[in-house]
Amino acid sequence: MRIDIITLFPSMFRGPFDESIIKRARKKGILEINFHNLRDFTGDRHRTVDDLPYGGGAGMVMKPEPLFRAVEKVKEEKRFSWKVILLSPQGQPFAQEKAKELAQEEGLIFICGHYEGVDERVREHLIDEELSLGDFVLTGGELAAMVIVDAIARMLPEVLGCKDSVREDSFYQTLLDYPHYTRPPEFRGWKVPGVLISGNHQKIREWRKKKKLENTFKKRPDLLKTAKLSREEEEMLEQIKRARTEH
Ligand SMILES: C[S@@+](CC[C@H](N)C(=O)[O-])C[C@H]1O[C@@H](n2cnc3c(N)ncnc32)[C@H](O)[C@@H]1O
Repeated sequence: MRIDIITLFPSMFRGPFDESIIKRARKKGILEINFHNLRDFTGDRHRTVDDLPYGGGAGMVMKPEPLFRAVEKVKEEKRFSWKVILLSPQGQPFAQEKAKELAQEEGLIFICGHYEGVDERVREHLIDEELSLGDFVLTGGELAAMVIVDAIARMLPEVLGCKDSVREDSFYQTLLDYPHYTRPPEFRGWKVPGVLISGNHQKIREWRKKKKLENTFKKRPDLLKTAKLSREEEEMLEQIKRARTEH
């Protein structure tokens, strides 16, 4: 997969994409990430990327020409089909389903906004979709791009060593993850649940299934409205609810 990021601050990306899992994925060639400095696509001596808003008001607006030029330049690479994404607080809130969906694409172009945002013609004629990190306003799109690219990269086959770990993750199948424990079996008097050291794999699977439901019921009951549960899971959930009310 190829990801191209159009930004005023390419150096902000040094670090997050040069460490750990993303670094390995890039090294193995599973993921290619390129950064484009928006100022390289300006046409004037001052490398101007912003201008005053028509109609007056506070702040500056990102000019359309450099953004169109930058995206069109990336799209000259015809080996990939491209999807253009604008990071914006007005976009669809990013979530795991979107990460899965975007991991199927060949090429993604992310536009990181700044100031008051981008000229509306960028929204209308250049991008395919707008994604938001949540209902809050950041100073620029870079941090949002880092988070979203990281979540997409984990969904690429071969990026993580163990495919099962992705499937069990929170949100992958709507529910939250189950609790994890490692050695020692007892720490400051707190013991690891006996079932996990019993060696009984069937019992461990059941315990984890139940804990996923319990976790979701306790922390994010809203997720249960859309979760597709098996008969066994529905029964477990009923038990969890009953135990709660009896308490
Ligand atoms: C200060 S914000 C502009 C906010 C804009 N005036 C608005 O209210 O919609 C500057 C840039 O930061 C990025 N940004 C801010 N909040 C974001 C969010 N929640 N998710 C994704 N990107 C965000 C966008 O690229 C945006 O163009």
